[in-house]
Amino acid sequence: MSVILTRGRAPRTPHTEYYSEPEVLALEEIHGVSGFSGDWSRKYHYRKYPTQQVRDAHKLPLDLRPQPLPPLPLQPWHLRTSRLKAHGDAVSGRVPLVYGTHTLVGAAHFEKSCPADRFFRNGDGHELWFVQEGRGLLASEYGVLAFRPGHYVVVPKGTTYRLELESEDCLLLMVESRFPIQFAPHHLNASGQATLMAPVVETEVDLPEFRPPRDEDGLFRVWTKHDGGFVTEMFLGHHPFDLIGWEGALYPYAFHTDDQHPLAKQTHTAPPTRQTFQSGHAPHDGFAVCTFKGQMEGWHPLDVPAPYAHFNVDSDEVMFFSNTSYGARKGLVEPGSLTFHPGSLPHSPHGMAARRSFAERGKLSDYLAVMLDTFFEPLRVARQALGVADKDYPASWNRDTQGVSAS
Ligand SMILES: [Fe+2]
Repeated sequence: MSVILTRGRAPRTPHTEYYSEPEVLALEEIHGVSGFSGDWSRKYHYRKYPTQQVRDAHKLPLDLRPQPLPPLPLQPWHLRTSRLKAHGDAVSGRVPLVYGTHTLVGAAHFEKSCPADRFFRNGDGHELWFVQEGRGLLASEYGVLAFRPGHYVVVPKGTTYRLELESEDCLLLMVESRFPIQFAPHHLNASGQATLMAPVVETEVDLPEFRPPRDEDGLFRVWTKHDGGFVTEMFLGHHPFDLIGWEGALYPYAFHTDDQHPLAKQTHTAPPTRQTFQSGHAPHDGFAVCTFKGQMEGWHPLDVPAPYAHFNVDSDEVMFFSNTSYGARKGLVEPGSLTFHPGSLPHSPHGMAARRSFAERGKLSDYLAVMLDTFFEPLRVARQALGVADKDYPASWNRDTQGVSAS
């Protein structure tokens, strides 16, 4: 969805003389994706450019790169993100789990707000968060967004932000993409508006609440992630949230899964009906993100509500389980579980989920899970994930995980 916003004030015509106050020229900045050809916003800084560094920048010891593992046999994975020890803040607490050339899937289990004088920019990727536990505020130059469990938060690459925690700790699924992350195009019309059949419409998206410009001098640190996970600290002599206003289509936003309205079908619905986001140039690169949210299961008298075994050879699949109600993995996953099924392997529900699911025909289910399917991008597990890996997962299809064994 392309919702063009104006927050604060901005000149009617881009790149024209405009003043923050009498005699103080507002300084225009374009924040854009895909060169000068993609979504963009124009920002008006109060009196200083975002380039005005007052000290030499330096690279921090913090290393957010996924650490490679030696080649391993092909296998499915089950990682338990809730078992990551809570540490640091939304930047220092992030742990890479599964990654490819353009995509990084990680989690952050953290317990602190970002310091008031320290800001973060992800120069590597556009971010998509799913909030599993905790609540807080994403404060950025564009304004403020509140989040709570069940929210997605989308943060464009290059956004300057801080995260303020309003709970004891927080667990986020964090996806990064080299490519912009947008709502699924097949739920949009040719003008970019949600269609009448879309599971989400524009008025259900949480948009940034603008705050007055911080026209303040001081020493403000900006941490930028770059080169796949290095972090450089830069120093500005003015507060980075200094916009008198902005206008455009590129900004952070949030979307709560309560506002995703699943589409029912008489027989099993394939994942694209449940798709919320897409990144890249489907079906050539990037990924689809689907929200598996409880819905009316198929009511055909012979419908099999459980999914089929599937072998999508051009997609590596990551699935994050917010609760344990998803029938295909019942008895095996815990809240915060993340499964990774490489495209070179078929995968299927566990046990006799197909037979058991007959009882769900025409009933309302209550699962909540997020699925990411890449397009032509193989993923691999990072060394940092090993500590929360379920070593028994590859053989679990032969175990009695649900009271009904597969054999
Ligand atoms: Fe799957």
